[in-house]
Amino acid sequence: MTSKPVFLDRIRPAAEQSLASPSVDRASIGALVREFYSRVRKDERLGPIFAREIAGDWEPHLEKMTDFWCSVILKNGDYHGRPVPAHLKLKDVTEEDFEIWLALFRKTASELFTPEIAAVFVERAERIATSLKLAMFFRLSSAASAAGE
Ligand code: HEM
Repeated sequence: MTSKPVFLDRIRPAAEQSLASPSVDRASIGALVREFYSRVRKDERLGPIFAREIAGDWEPHLEKMTDFWCSVILKNGDYHGRPVPAHLKLKDVTEEDFEIWLALFRKTASELFTPEIAAVFVERAERIATSLKLAMFFRLSSAASAAGE
């Protein structure tokens, strides 16, 4: 029997049910995405990072992110992209930036959905953020020094 590093178990998505609620559909998810990114664009730290990457039309990004969240929440398979490479190329993003991202996302979701539904979005966002941070910032050398080696 082969044993895998423990952290790999934590980033593997758990089998999940889609969120069955009439208030959660492509229209309401699209509204969340649009409101969230309008706040991101105004944020003093995240705004310039996104402005550098998305110089022209925001519409394709907003549609892609709506597909992404529909796939995550409704399990409809609309999204076919690869989030990890898209973030690995962002060299100036820090772990603290993820806290800003998540705080804005929590606030927006809780304003647009009931607390129960917002909690589902936030839990998924936190889990995906953890996977992205592992891909972007985890280094074997830092794991070794954390283990006192
Ligand atoms: C500080 C945190 C983050 C920053 C600065 C950031 C920034 C970006 C940027 C600049 C892009 C590329 C846009 C483009 O070229 O189209 C992108 C794409 C994307 N982001 Fe993030 N992001 C962050 C966190 C997250 C989190 C937490 C999630 C998920 C919960 C996420 C999901 C995605 C997805 C799905 C894409 C599209 C990837 C693709 O298929 O091309 N991001 N992000």
